[in-house]
Amino acid sequence: MTDIKACIFDLDGVIVDTAVYHYKAWKRLANELGFDFTEEQNEQLKGVSRVRSLQLILGWGGVTKTEAEQTELATRKNDWYVDMINQMTPAEILPGALDFLEACRAAGLKTALGSASKNSMTILNKVGIAHLFDTIVDGNHVSAPKPDPEVFLKGAEALGVSPTECVVFEDAIAGVQAAKNGGMKAVGIGSPETLSQADLVVSGLDKMTIEKLKEL
Ligand code: G6P
Ligand code: MG
Repeated sequence: MTDIKACIFDLDGVIVDTAVYHYKAWKRLANELGFDFTEEQNEQLKGVSRVRSLQLILGWGGVTKTEAEQTELATRKNDWYVDMINQMTPAEILPGALDFLEACRAAGLKTALGSASKNSMTILNKVGIAHLFDTIVDGNHVSAPKPDPEVFLKGAEALGVSPTECVVFEDAIAGVQAAKNGGMKAVGIGSPETLSQADLVVSGLDKMTIEKLKEL
């Protein structure tokens, strides 16, 4: 048993299901550019930064754009995405997420958000859970994208705990790798086949308990 002192949570796909909004907005952009992409391809965008996601999508469509054009396209996509997340309500918190966050805090564990999204504060405020995090590190604070551990290491530092005392909750392969690269434990949210590098995989935070945390 490790001495766990903090839990660091990814946002998209762990606490809320915003992947569907990202998909809709990217699909609309691709369609405007004259091509389409599949939900399977969309899986590859999980945990991936906005700019890198755009580059992958343009590659799938065989489309080349200048840097200035890419900036405009990413902004266009984000405007549509922000319109959608502005409609979010607390009902969109994924099953078990609220209970587990509260259980962590009741058990004396520190909590952090570690997300690649630059929209994380908007989402947290819309679903009403910003107050459940001791620190929030997101796409506005980091320069190296997951699987680089920067986002999680900054979270640990802000909480005043060492990486080995942290457990990261992640639904993306790159996110699980980032946790492991940072010397942290990783709980995968999703399928064990996809998230094979995680120390434990559960289908959702509704399947997570403080007991399971202590066994890691
Ligand atoms: C998360 C999502 C990605 C998204 C990234 C950046 O990691 O899983 O799909 O591209 O955040 O989000 P943003 O809101 O800044 O465009
Ligand atoms: Mg995610």
